[in-house]
Amino acid sequence: MRFGTLLLFALPLAAVAQRKPVAARVDSVLSLMTLPELVGQTNQYNGFWNATGPMPAGNEWVEQRVKALKQGGVGSVLNVAGVDQVRALQKVAVEETRLGIPLIFGLDVIHGYQTLSPIPLAEAASWDLEAIKRSARAAALEATADGINWTFAPMVDISRDPRWGRVMEGAGEDPYLGARIAEARVRGFQGDNLSDPTTLAACLKHFAGYGFPVSGKDYHTTDYSAHTLYNWILPPFEAGVKAGAATVMNAFSAANGIPATGDSALVWGELRRRMGFGGVLVSDWGSIGEMIPHGYARDLRDAADRALAAGCDIDMESDAYLRHGVELARSHPADSLRFREAARRILTLKFELGLMDDPYRYCRATKPDVRAEAYDMAVRSSVLLQNKGVLPIGSVLVGLTGPMAAEKNGVLGNWRVSAKDQSAQSLAEAVEGRCWTYAASAPHSVGQEAFHAELTLNAADTKANDAALKALRKHDVLVLAVGEHGYESGEGRSRASLRLSAVQQDLIRKAYKTGKPVVLVVYAGRPLVLEPWIQEGAAAILWAWQPGTLGGQAVVDVLCGKSEPYGRLPMTFPRSEGQIPIHYDAFSTGRPGPKSEVFWSHYTDESNAPAYPFGYGLSYTSFAYENLQVREAPGGWSATVTVRNTGARSGSDVVQLYVGREGNGQIYPVKSLKAFKRVVLEPGSSAAVELELPREALTQRDGQGRSIPFTHGTLRITVGPNSAEGLTWTTNLIP
Ligand code: GLC
Repeated sequence: MRFGTLLLFALPLAAVAQRKPVAARVDSVLSLMTLPELVGQTNQYNGFWNATGPMPAGNEWVEQRVKALKQGGVGSVLNVAGVDQVRALQKVAVEETRLGIPLIFGLDVIHGYQTLSPIPLAEAASWDLEAIKRSARAAALEATADGINWTFAPMVDISRDPRWGRVMEGAGEDPYLGARIAEARVRGFQGDNLSDPTTLAACLKHFAGYGFPVSGKDYHTTDYSAHTLYNWILPPFEAGVKAGAATVMNAFSAANGIPATGDSALVWGELRRRMGFGGVLVSDWGSIGEMIPHGYARDLRDAADRALAAGCDIDMESDAYLRHGVELARSHPADSLRFREAARRILTLKFELGLMDDPYRYCRATKPDVRAEAYDMAVRSSVLLQNKGVLPIGSVLVGLTGPMAAEKNGVLGNWRVSAKDQSAQSLAEAVEGRCWTYAASAPHSVGQEAFHAELTLNAADTKANDAALKALRKHDVLVLAVGEHGYESGEGRSRASLRLSAVQQDLIRKAYKTGKPVVLVVYAGRPLVLEPWIQEGAAAILWAWQPGTLGGQAVVDVLCGKSEPYGRLPMTFPRSEGQIPIHYDAFSTGRPGPKSEVFWSHYTDESNAPAYPFGYGLSYTSFAYENLQVREAPGGWSATVTVRNTGARSGSDVVQLYVGREGNGQIYPVKSLKAFKRVVLEPGSSAAVELELPREALTQRDGQGRSIPFTHGTLRITVGPNSAEGLTWTTNLIP
């Protein structure tokens, strides 16, 4: 088999070459490359061929792509996994192309690979950065054992709109929490050394502003102010870049009349120059070509030209660069240079991954067992929203029902491209052997359950609800597992109504009529809207999100008190859809209320308050916050509060520090999270918890992007258990 020139070039000089710095080695390879080969590195295809088998007869589309691969026209692929597949495709790239440059293998390892952790929004609810990092590390261990070297994660899009299905994939509404979680995930995926064959190159996505779609519809135009861009949307990207993220992905969306994939000012001004990002920028799937239906580009050639000018290094599945790149480069010297620089960044990544020295280095690991990490994160992510004393459940007869109780698929969440269907442990399975009885209620959905397909909900068949409650008529406590299937949130799945389905409401209403205590366990990829009668009638509400492969055991262990409810909300829960977008860090407005007359910012038919505020979550014990002390130092302020466990069980609370700022010549949110720390306390004990507020944390960028320090005006520091409660200290800063 013909060896690629590069392989021959590299092998004898490998010893010397490996001592050369990467940049010099990249230059050596670039000097060998033709223009078509430079362009080829920028082309990314979805898995198109089972390279372990024969070419599918007569499939021209596959033949064209295999031909492109062999001509050096493919630099990376996605959705190819498994050592056999990866090795076979890599072998073609390394041995059957002129230069033998290996491929990078990318995949959406969003919340686990085959063993699934809870969805990212659930992980964010743990507010536990070390656990989040461990979870990303576990995903990397499992995915790299199947040959994957690049994950299209973490998604760091801030959003305040639970109608948007992709909130499940992010870290919620707050830029500070989002930034800390972006760092933790990048470090968990990448480790300290990208060439370690158990680490994944991370990808911060989607740059930028994708989480602000008009009317909550996915892929729709995004509408946000420059102020929002600078102070909410960009900080998690900046934190991820500083944490060393190797790649960034464009957003599908458009803002200010420009698609993100073509937004030069955003990419060169903010990502490359201001944040100093030197890695690879990959388009989202087809987002270069989608600049045509956006109405921005005339045709694919124009789209390629605009994306290239906007710094997009890799074209995922538009075929724009491969079809038009060489001709563009030959007619525009600037484009020729742009392709060379894109190829430079891509080759640098391949050297950093170690693929240039050993293209098969990710094809040797043994599969790890990461179930412990998935269980641990599932326990840490559920949020107790209400408890009238029924939890933790003791030695009583428990009746379990509800459409999510036996669910082994929907509780895996949406982004589980490599997990097997029905591979979750269900709640009903987890209670086997306990004094629990499971009775099947009416199904939530009917028919096909698939990543790409709409889910068909059971609209009216409630018969099994009556049968279930009849079967459980002798039980002391009812546990109802309700909510969303994993394929009701995620990409392409925005909802106008966030209510539980009619069939589920029928079950809840009939369960309440039994007069027994009813515990609602809600599985969802987002905040939902619970009608007041549902909230008020529940003896307890545990938000389980979509807890992944080990969710069954985790939920039971929390319900029965083996583990405490640990989570705190990373997103505000609305009382009704009409309040959306709703978020804790809103502005005061010129007419804050309440006022006796109507002339203030409010609804006539709804409260301004959320159902549950950002940062909220209960424990099985209770806490008191006392004696807030704030000390100023040159670098900022240090706030110390005494937290006391006033209950009968040990427990932990997330102590949160928020700031309010006024009078400095800018409008600031009424509250902004700036620090948090978990405290663990035995019953009756207390601890002094200290949180730091660096002076620069008060800086806010104005509408022109200028960083304005907070030097004069009123500063409020509030320390408490969530964004709606706490002790406040106020001072006036004088410049
Ligand atoms: C999808 C998503 C993106 C994902 C990519 C590859 O459409 O928008 O987040 O990484 O395509 O699957």
